[in-house]
Amino acid sequence: MEKIEIIKPDDWHVHFRDGEVLKAVVPETTKHFARAIVMPNLVPPILKGNDAVKYRERIQNAVPENQQFLPLMTLYLTEKTDKYDLRESYDKEQIFAAKLYPAGATTNSDSGVKDLKKIMPVLETMAEIGMPLLIHGEVTDNEIDVFDREKVFIDQKLDFICKELPELKITLEHITTKEATVYVNEGNKNLVATITPHHLALNRNAIFVGGIRPHNYCLPILKREVHRKALLKAATSNSTKFFLGTDTAPHLTGEKESACGCAGIFNSTYCLSILAQLFDNENALSQLESFISKRGAKHYNLKINKQKIILIKSSQNLIFKKYLNFNEQKIKIFEPDFLVFWKVAE
Ligand code: DOR
Ligand code: ZN
Repeated sequence: MEKIEIIKPDDWHVHFRDGEVLKAVVPETTKHFARAIVMPNLVPPILKGNDAVKYRERIQNAVPENQQFLPLMTLYLTEKTDKYDLRESYDKEQIFAAKLYPAGATTNSDSGVKDLKKIMPVLETMAEIGMPLLIHGEVTDNEIDVFDREKVFIDQKLDFICKELPELKITLEHITTKEATVYVNEGNKNLVATITPHHLALNRNAIFVGGIRPHNYCLPILKREVHRKALLKAATSNSTKFFLGTDTAPHLTGEKESACGCAGIFNSTYCLSILAQLFDNENALSQLESFISKRGAKHYNLKINKQKIILIKSSQNLIFKKYLNFNEQKIKIFEPDFLVFWKVAE
């Protein structure tokens, strides 16, 4: 039996949704993570500081009593976001960061941004006050192949933002391509990226093994093996620019197993086990703590957590629970296509 003790991790990108789903999924994150950045793409989205505060309360109410957890709230940027309003919400610590969804890029992103120029004054304010910008980095043009949308976003949009505002703290979220790893590595010190467990674990074949696999559909969509390898290399390297953001994104099974299934993979339940296995397979367990518990805090100027967790490798592989069940509804739990021997000591 192998055992490692590491600093308790943070998840720099989660979707908690709201209502009954929120109550069911929040404990799956809080059992292992000390803090998380919470996405604002609710229906309707979180547009104001006060909405974020009320949402934060609903999240805190769902945290089991014996656990400590800090949700870091985000605002959803639209072309109408007011820079004074945003600044005030940030100063009052109602929000931690702002999220840029190109309109139509993903789940509940219809009110996102069509024309980047319209939000440049807001981004300038953010650069001035040190507020982080989180980006869903995909263009939405129908003419652009869905597998190329991240690369084209980097070339056409991200490069422009980085050059205009080198002081802005930017997280390119859930990166999926080799090009993204290269761009972020070579970019200025304020540009970092998050990587999800599912993009580290799967390539695009996983969407089509023996039939269509809606539970492996997410956005940005899974890419070729060379890209998965590049992500693994970035995550397990000693670069401080790449860290964990799970993008755990619950949808009810009926919304996934459908003629028009939703994008999103719910991965919080076994996230740390899967990551430990992936890092172990790469002989890179020495970088795991840095990837899940240190680099993100450093980028966001937060202290690293004081608590620790213990990961144990046993000779028996883990048997995954298939679903998170609640109120006669269910959410499919992400399970990779390899055996996992690591678990978190309870
Ligand atoms: O797969 C995804 N699901 N990607 C996103 O960007 C959004 C998320 C969701 O909200 O379901
Ligand atoms: Zn997301």
